[in-house]
Amino acid sequence: GKGEYPHFMLKEIHEQPTSLAQAIEGRLDVERDEVYLGSFPPGRFEDIDRIQFVACGTSYHAALYGSIAMNRSGLQTSVHLANEYSVCAPPVDERTLVIAVTQSGETADTLGAMRRAAAGGARILTVTNVIGSTAARNADDVLLIRAGPEIGVAATKTFSAQAVMLLLLAQRLADDIVGEAAVGGDSMLADIRALPERFEGVLEDGTAKTLAESYLESQSFFFIGRGLGYPVALEGALKFKEITYEHAEGFASGELKHGPLALVTPDTPVFAIFTGQEDEKVLANAEEAHTRGAPVIAVCHEGHPATDIADGHLEIPDVDSSLAGLLANVQLQLLSYHAADRLGRPIDKPRNLAKSVTVE
Ligand code: F6R
Repeated sequence: GKGEYPHFMLKEIHEQPTSLAQAIEGRLDVERDEVYLGSFPPGRFEDIDRIQFVACGTSYHAALYGSIAMNRSGLQTSVHLANEYSVCAPPVDERTLVIAVTQSGETADTLGAMRRAAAGGARILTVTNVIGSTAARNADDVLLIRAGPEIGVAATKTFSAQAVMLLLLAQRLADDIVGEAAVGGDSMLADIRALPERFEGVLEDGTAKTLAESYLESQSFFFIGRGLGYPVALEGALKFKEITYEHAEGFASGELKHGPLALVTPDTPVFAIFTGQEDEKVLANAEEAHTRGAPVIAVCHEGHPATDIADGHLEIPDVDSSLAGLLANVQLQLLSYHAADRLGRPIDKPRNLAKSVTVE
């Protein structure tokens, strides 16, 4: 049941320290700087030369996160919406690893993309939360995220667990395919080990609730980020529109000036995500919105230069740039939840949506 929480979504947001601890348990050795992914011993992916992600919705955002992290370590990756995969038809062969990211393991679009890739000879790996799901049964390799059952239609704890497991997988793949290559900073594994505690800290912060209330009358809500902040901007906007029914959009911050800036007014708060990578560029983009009168809310660590121009601040701890976005995402989950709650929306079962989408 929901226990002390009014909604499964809030319960599941708060479960993240536990679900992440469960996800990483026994899977990393900080002292040796090694990851242990049960069925993937060192060398398992030696014969792979390119990686394609297929996924939908929130899982697509986690896939984008994983792909960006993999690119950083020199792996060749591409990311595809599973429902577009059949028409964009990227070439595959037996040296292609297709990673299907699907919480439920039952999303028809994703299963369809897996079948297509397998028919082309690709090796299929699924990152899923459900043992024995169709995706798990149909894949050559399975990486379980061990987040525990998720009941709320809005995916929350599974996104964090997917992203973290993809960072660990990135390290395994980088070791196998490109040799010694860093996915995050030197301390990434130590920072991942400390992540459950970091999540705990962010969950204790009440700012997102207050902020959600003060901007409730706005016309649209924009989320911007760069690098690993970009999938978080997309995810922030998806969660917001899904449960509040308000218009929200996520952009790569550098894209604002290529069109979306025309939408920016004093009535469109802009949530800017700072992960520690090229933050000065995100700040310049946020300033452009600010100049047009938009309230800017900086999602960043304390003392960050963005707080000087921002109208609001959602604080995250100062961590490795490979992980900062995941903490920013927790603040945005809380923002969406509290905004939807204030608007009286049926948070666990938003209209027109199902937990797993089993038709194409
Ligand atoms: C959004 C959400 C959906 C799912 C998508 C894929 O909160 O939950 O966007 O992420 O339908 O579902 P899975 O991961 O089960 O393939």
